[in-house]
Amino acid sequence: MEAKGSDTSFTSVMTLTEKCQQNIPEQYVLPPSQRPNPTLVPTSLPVIDLSMMDHPPHRSQLILQLHAACNQLGFFQVINHGISSSVMKDALDSAEQFFDLPSDDKMCFASADVHKPVRYGTSMNHGVDQVFYWRDFIKHYANPISEWIHLWPSDPPTYKEKMGSYAKAANALQKRLMEVVLESLGLNVDYLHDDIKEGSQVIAVNCYPSCPEPDLALGMPPHTDYGTLTILNQNHQGLEIMDHDKTWHHVPFIEGALIVQLGDQLQVMSNGRYKSIPHRALVNVQRKRLSIASIHSMQLDKKVGPAPDAVDEQHPVAYKEGSFGEFLDYISAKSLTEGNYIDTLK
Ligand code: SIN
Ligand code: FE2
Repeated sequence: MEAKGSDTSFTSVMTLTEKCQQNIPEQYVLPPSQRPNPTLVPTSLPVIDLSMMDHPPHRSQLILQLHAACNQLGFFQVINHGISSSVMKDALDSAEQFFDLPSDDKMCFASADVHKPVRYGTSMNHGVDQVFYWRDFIKHYANPISEWIHLWPSDPPTYKEKMGSYAKAANALQKRLMEVVLESLGLNVDYLHDDIKEGSQVIAVNCYPSCPEPDLALGMPPHTDYGTLTILNQNHQGLEIMDHDKTWHHVPFIEGALIVQLGDQLQVMSNGRYKSIPHRALVNVQRKRLSIASIHSMQLDKKVGPAPDAVDEQHPVAYKEGSFGEFLDYISAKSLTEGNYIDTLK
């Protein structure tokens, strides 16, 4: 293993799994209190049918369902969301082909600089992580796509086309979702209309190779996402979410569904009426898992604070303003296990 903070030289988990058969390296072993609990019982989590959006009599029912899901958890899955299963699958296939490339073909995207618009890496942020996570990733900016796509991997040759189609579809879905989520919140956020429309989109493509000791490690530590909404496409189950009672729940895999998670910027905008959902990724011994998180937020330098409408005598200002750029500065210096960014805004 390369030394911590050694920037662009690291051992990916994909490379590690070629060598290590029985045990994971010490660096990946979590303290007992942070290990996953394999005996969790499945719970029923909200699934929302977005076809209700286009049928006026059902729209108010949809808004009520969204309000309940966002208020109680900050999480739901969507079906009939309008993104075809072939677009979803093609993006996951091209992700798999990318991670299957020889190391040198991926390392040219490696960077310790979290501000880079395209970045290949391992763990969460291997330069600052105290324990390593069983994950390789490539992240790239995606909106407006014409500005960024030429920087994305050219290998596999279909990557730009397949991942690009998915990114565009996810961005369109995000706009539709924000409309109804904000309606369900009941606040006037018209002043943010352009910022939401022209916001930032980061596509985080995650690869969690099969792990010989999945009870000792995690693919990602507990964290909340910094943005407004995250839309997650995955090929297998592995995500866990934490409810308000601090209980972890496995998120069931539903073929064709997409997962939606509320992020810190919605928590701040709503002055805490809606909460961002803490989540983590498990690993498993049977197979590699891939996920694609489309993380939406306001633009890099746009400071987001509580909506004026969300503040009154009963609801005093609960958060300081923060931006995506400030979040990046935070994570480049801190391991996520040291605390979530949202806590710095309280
Ligand atoms: C994420 O937190 O961005 C991804 C989680 C997952 O892969 O399930
Ligand atoms: Fe996340």
